[in-house]
Order: sequence, then structure tokens, then C-alpha cells
Amino acid sequence: MALRTIRVLGDEILTKSCREVKEITPRIQTLIEDMLETMYDADGVGLAAPQVGVLKQIAVVDVSPEGDQPIIMINPKIVELSGEQTGQEGCLSVPGKVGMVKRANYAKIKAFNENMEEFIVEGEELLARALQHEIDHLSGVMYVSKTEGGLMDVEASEKES
Ligand code: NI
Repeated sequence: MALRTIRVLGDEILTKSCREVKEITPRIQTLIEDMLETMYDADGVGLAAPQVGVLKQIAVVDVSPEGDQPIIMINPKIVELSGEQTGQEGCLSVPGKVGMVKRANYAKIKAFNENMEEFIVEGEELLARALQHEIDHLSGVMYVSKTEGGLMDVEASEKES
């Protein structure tokens, strides 16, 4: 496993749509392992493949306090969104900043895992926010385009995705 360089706002790759994954190759297995390592190393709660320069529909999320419940999503699709939450959001590709973003409070996602088995993940609040944020990355959407009131500086201790 290895840490990958996280692309930052202004890098064009972050604005592009990602391609579907057709099969799990050794290269993709390595990418997923590296994405998890890179997310944990950066103390983030989520990371999408374009953030490490790969235009594939792969994202990882882990909102658990211990950082031991990774969710690996390949070709994720939103099945259902409901409710509403407005809260602070950050992104590892926008270091040192946060913004207020309105999201659905509940999200249900269909995706494939690292063995290309379909699964459903659903969550509320922070998990729902992280799922929506990462899926946005796969179509080239950054949270900064959704902020209400622009970006603010963040304390170094806060988690970013
Ligand atoms: Ni992000």
C-alpha cells in the first residue's frame, strides 16, 4: 500500500466525470487499498478516486470514530434521498476550509464492493452527508459549488472528506 497525492481545488481532474468500473483488476485493488490508507492518513471521512487522480467510479467513506468501518463503493447510485440537513462540510481537496452545505438527511445508496458484489448502504446525518459528498466527486461536483455563504477557515482538528 502507498499514500497517493491528493489533488486540490483548481486541478481540472476534480471537475470531470468518472467512468464505471467493469471488473476488479489487481490495479484497482491496489487503488482501493491506497485510497483507504490515504484517507486515514489525512484524517478524512471520505475520499473519491478523482481526488487521487483516477477517473473511475470508486469512493471510500468511514465516519466511525475509530476509523475501522470503511465503506468501499464502486459504481455507486443514489436510490433514495429524503429529509434535509444543513451543516459544515469540508473536503481533503480543499484543505483548511469548510462551508455550510444543505444535503438530504437520509441517503440510500446501491453500489458494488471490492468483490463486485452489489450491496446497499444507508445512513443519516454525517454518513448521509459523506455518501452524497463522495458520490458528487464522481461526477466532478465539488462541495464548494453548493455552499451557502462561501468558504470559511477551519480549525486544524476538524475532519475533512
Ligand atoms: Ni471531498
